[in-house]
Amino acid sequence: MGLIVISNREPYAPKRGEDFDLRWVPSIGGLTAALDPALQHAGGTWIAWGEELPEISEVDLPQDAPRYRLKRLRLSEAEVRDFYYGFSNRALWPMSHYFIGRTKYQTATWRAYVNVNRRFAEAAVESYREGDLIWVHDYQLALVPRMIRGALPHARIGFFWHIPWPSAEVFRTLPWDRELLDGMLGADLIGMHTHDYVRYFQIACERVLGAETEGDTVRWQDRVSRMVARPIGIEVETFEELATSPEVEEAADRIRRTLQTQILLGVDRLDYTKGIPERLEAFDAFLDRHPEARGRVTLLQIAVPSRERVESYRQLRAQVEGLVGRINGKHTRDGWSPVQYIYRGVSREELVAHYRAADVMLVTPLRDGLNLVAKEFAASSRDGVLILSRFAGAADEMPEALQVNPYNVDGLAAALLEALQMPLDEKKARLQRLRERLKQSDLHAWAEGFIQELAAT
Ligand code: ADP
Ligand code: G6P
Repeated sequence: MGLIVISNREPYAPKRGEDFDLRWVPSIGGLTAALDPALQHAGGTWIAWGEELPEISEVDLPQDAPRYRLKRLRLSEAEVRDFYYGFSNRALWPMSHYFIGRTKYQTATWRAYVNVNRRFAEAAVESYREGDLIWVHDYQLALVPRMIRGALPHARIGFFWHIPWPSAEVFRTLPWDRELLDGMLGADLIGMHTHDYVRYFQIACERVLGAETEGDTVRWQDRVSRMVARPIGIEVETFEELATSPEVEEAADRIRRTLQTQILLGVDRLDYTKGIPERLEAFDAFLDRHPEARGRVTLLQIAVPSRERVESYRQLRAQVEGLVGRINGKHTRDGWSPVQYIYRGVSREELVAHYRAADVMLVTPLRDGLNLVAKEFAASSRDGVLILSRFAGAADEMPEALQVNPYNVDGLAAALLEALQMPLDEKKARLQRLRERLKQSDLHAWAEGFIQELAAT
């Protein structure tokens, strides 16, 4: 029995170094961060879009110690524009995160979405061998389960939706609401991060399709799909080991020595769902209210460029850069600047060194399917405090974090003060409880649990 994983984003992207050597560099984003270790463990085939160097159609990964085969789909310029930037990231992404005002529902991009989904489904069918398990991922590929089902009626097909599932009222703004649900219901097992998302999905199935739901199932036409609420985990031990390695400890000390202040940290893809402007505004309000904190605390924001061909993302970048400039202009003195802004991806080691150096981690999305950064920080930190938005899927599992409403700038500023003043033993106790829970449901339990349930269908 083999495993076929299908996602839009590939786990590693090929880059030519100065010496023309080909290096496969990890992609940045929650889905690939989670699935790469899971597939390294399970072995199998991964089908994804080959963005860079599309002429390479297959490769064994990871490069230094191959564990699975990546098959790369070549998309045309127009397909990328309409399927990826268009329907996936201008319609489904904002709709699912409750940003109706940012959606563009266009028939032309919907058609491209259908066509590209069909190409992914065909690639899966071609790779399929009797008995294989097929696991399709995320909002870019919601029609793929039904399309595969058409060709392989008896295959076991799983689907995981990695982003929030919105309330049915919001979902019904999508002109192709029926088609999307029907596409997903081609799967035997459908996973989401929280019980709320599963419940909202079932309500959408009832209202939009008139499907029957009972317990954790949806009956639609002649088939029954089972739902499972299972939040994704991380490899806790890997983060703990890296965080306590001499290299990372030294790098963390270097960050602390350079800044010479308490450190507030933000790490995100530069996405309007992540609440970065609201976070900066809250820090500004905090400095206004607590002048004694000036020179004693720095907000370090690491933002990796994302989906830059979409207008909303370009606007966000300009807004964030404007805010950083305004806040630094207002508060900078005596060689201290309140905000340090890094606009690029950093390596895993650098990332964990920053988690380790931070006194307070700010994970304040306006809406997030889960948020792995919160979990990575909790696994890596020595004695830091996690401030976490109640609108991140991870909030359900992390009650020991200081939970905030990211829209409430004053509340967020107050949480900053509480975090900076929290006694050491309380910080340690909260982290320990968070870590114990992370270990109980880590990444491998998530992946193996889903695969086993799929195999049993
Ligand atoms: P999303 O899925 O929306 O990208 P998550 O928080 O779930 O958000 O996952 C983001 C992943 O990308 C995490 O594994 C995190 O470590 C990584 N990441 C985010 N920003 C950066 C960055 N600037 N540099 C390196 N890695 C990053
Ligand atoms: C989120 C989505 C993933 C996506 C990732 C990075 O985690 O759920 O499907 O891969 O963001 O975004 P990108 O558009 O660069 O793949």
